[in-house]
Amino acid sequence: MTSRRKILTVFGTRPEAIKLFPLVHALAQDERFESRVCISAQHREMLDQVLEIAAIMPDHDLDLMTPGQTLDALTARALVEIGKVLDLEQPDWVVVQGDTTTVMAGAIAAYYRKIPVCHIEAGLRSGDIHHPWPEEVNRRVVGSFAALHCAPTENARGALLRENVDPASVHVTGNTVIDALHWVTRRVADEPSLASGLADLEARFAGKRIIGMTSHRRENFGAGMQNIANAVRNFASRDDIAVIFPVHLNPNVRAVMNGQLAGLDNVALIEPLDYPHFARLLDISHLMLTDSGGVQEEAPALGKPVLVMRETTERPEGVDAGTAKLVGTDAETIVRETNRLLDDEAAYAAMARAHNPFGDGHSAARIADLLATA
Ligand code: UD1
Ligand code: UDP
Repeated sequence: MTSRRKILTVFGTRPEAIKLFPLVHALAQDERFESRVCISAQHREMLDQVLEIAAIMPDHDLDLMTPGQTLDALTARALVEIGKVLDLEQPDWVVVQGDTTTVMAGAIAAYYRKIPVCHIEAGLRSGDIHHPWPEEVNRRVVGSFAALHCAPTENARGALLRENVDPASVHVTGNTVIDALHWVTRRVADEPSLASGLADLEARFAGKRIIGMTSHRRENFGAGMQNIANAVRNFASRDDIAVIFPVHLNPNVRAVMNGQLAGLDNVALIEPLDYPHFARLLDISHLMLTDSGGVQEEAPALGKPVLVMRETTERPEGVDAGTAKLVGTDAETIVRETNRLLDDEAAYAAMARAHNPFGDGHSAARIADLLATA
């Protein structure tokens, strides 16, 4: 019998955990692998919410988050601490997902030890190193030396080939976010109480159309966040809508949103939702307003129009499918586009079509097969 491949999956933030739990589940059930999990805990509470619902017990918890952490301090600590785990575990592969500081530092620590890196959600490019910042460069760094690139779409594969990545190392696997969404939908169908915590808000806003909102991008800190808050104040004066806004724990987000939007009748500023409740929010929302990456993938899969408060996107598939639209962070534009979707039925119908350019829900199994044979 050949020995099992030892896979160390490294992650640190909420979206990485959501997009990696399907793979961690798949590896744990597969005899071809010995699976280990290392979390940097670049996020603490928001990461733990995902670990709990997905029932993942990390083998290594580096507990790196500090309040209001800077990019350089986080990068330095993550690099050193993940390196120590690699020396201890000596895995055959290191798996990272996406574009955060943990991803970049984890991949470099592996490279320093000549351990091959599998990059999931590879090949996303906006073409602008400042949007999203610093994620665009984090992705390019990992893309320049990963041994296995799991591109979610053909478009992402094309971006890697244009950067002269070896075509044999690039595979279109779909995005594991769709696996995660299917999994959580099944869990909630079996156990509805997992997502019943929004019932009071749903009753309070009965008869109004819900706008689901998230915002956290670093490049929007300052003027961008102020503009977003001003836009919400403006359309929240309508009496036929209500905004449900789980506010990211980043203090740069909370200061602005709590300062500008607290106390408005039609706006519920709430704590970050766990994944079953966020899936419920997507379900009850008439439209989504976001600068998130993951929400740009989930909303099209569910046929929810999504207005993206960014200047560019590394996920053009949602825009091409017609479900997502870039609106930037100019307050007037956000208000105009939101009102248009609320008042123009044809414009709404044109966007509200379920479209799934990001995967079929079987990405984790494909990635496991690649890790077993690569
Ligand atoms: C990070 C990622 C971003 C990703 C986002 C997902 C980088 C540079 N940024 O941004 O790519 O889209 O996560 O949400 O890697 N905090 C808490 N508790 C938590 C999480 C965050 O208190 O559970 C606060 C802390 O004060 C922390 C701050 O948020 O210092 C910022 O966290 P950080 O991971 O540096 O940046 P994000 O803006 O969350
Ligand atoms: N999400 C969540 N609770 C929330 C807000 C978002 O579970 O209150 C999920 C959402 O479904 C998506 C992911 O978090 O899968 C997106 O994370 P975030 O916006 O923080 O990061 P990004 O995707 O922009 O990197």
